[in-house]
Amino acid sequence: MGARELGLPQWVPAAAGLPERVTIWEVGPRDGLQNEKTVVPVEVKLEFLDRLADAGLRTLEATSFVHPKWVPQLADAEKLLAALDRRDGVRYPVLVPNERGLDRALDAGVADIAIFASATETFASKNLNSTLETQFEMFEPVVSRATAEGLDVRGYLSMCFGDPWEGAVPAEQVVRAGRRLLDLGCSQLSLGDTIGVATAGQVEAVVGGFVSAGVDVGKLAVHFHDTYGQALANTLTALRCGVSTVDSSAGGLGGCPYAESATGNLATEDLVWMLDGLGVAHGADLDKLVATSAWMAGQLGRPSASRVVNALAG
Ligand code: HMG
Ligand code: MG
Repeated sequence: MGARELGLPQWVPAAAGLPERVTIWEVGPRDGLQNEKTVVPVEVKLEFLDRLADAGLRTLEATSFVHPKWVPQLADAEKLLAALDRRDGVRYPVLVPNERGLDRALDAGVADIAIFASATETFASKNLNSTLETQFEMFEPVVSRATAEGLDVRGYLSMCFGDPWEGAVPAEQVVRAGRRLLDLGCSQLSLGDTIGVATAGQVEAVVGGFVSAGVDVGKLAVHFHDTYGQALANTLTALRCGVSTVDSSAGGLGGCPYAESATGNLATEDLVWMLDGLGVAHGADLDKLVATSAWMAGQLGRPSASRVVNALAG
């Protein structure tokens, strides 16, 4: 008899010291598909977004307005947004690195954007052709123009827990860079473990570092890749520290084309299974998510990376 037939994990009483509700920030259509070797057809992307909305997810990071040569997998951003059936109550944020990207996003009628900075010098160069310092000069006009237009701006910070070229990243360096994004006017800061090396103690130290520096923990989100299998443990630790927005990707799709050691994100289904077991509300329908990720695995021609998808897909 499987765990579902046994009623697991619903029998577990609500755990103490956790938020009552978690906002799932679904990044599969962007972080997942940006890393595919082949370009996924726009019709498949549209169906993916539709199915994720049907599954109850309310924040779907849809695509990126980056240079199409840098990420050809998302070069169809305009086409995708023009054809997208935007649902009431669903947000479709997009990544924007610079003013050119913002112009494109505004033309496409987006309401939510995310800028993405690096906590390290090397990744600022590899991912943005910039430096740790000049990336903020690139973002400043993006945030001021976007907020003046009434858009919401999220800030991502990559390499918060380790960098494949620079090794360990001091928590103070992460906090310094993250605060600059918030000071620019970002409404939220997502702490990225871009290459999936973080462990729970580090999560406590980095989140604690922000709180000690006066940052409201409600403004923090976490973004774990699962390279070393620590994403769920790290997420639980972040929840215990008071974080209540968690990034994940359906089926565990993902990676970063400019950080080769990165594998997929925390799988949304794995996150949902854990939250159900902890009595934390999230609004997603696990069966629909599993069916969506099984369908997407078929489209991509390889099995899902999610343990929960593999356990539950018929
Ligand atoms: P660059 O080559 O330095 O660009 O790239 P530039 O400013 O020198 O401009 C060169 C040409 O590109 C110009 O055209 C611009 O107009 C054009 P020309 O005048 O020569 O004809 N251009 C653009 N075209 C379309 N859209 C644009 C754009 N910008 C310039 N937005 C740039 C600098 C930032 C554009 C480039 O480095 C880039 O696109 N980087 C994005 C890389 C990326 O998308 N990485 C993955 C996302 S980050 C991530 O996955 C991490 C995350 O998940 C969190 C985590 O896990 O840690 C968020
Ligand atoms: Mg990522």
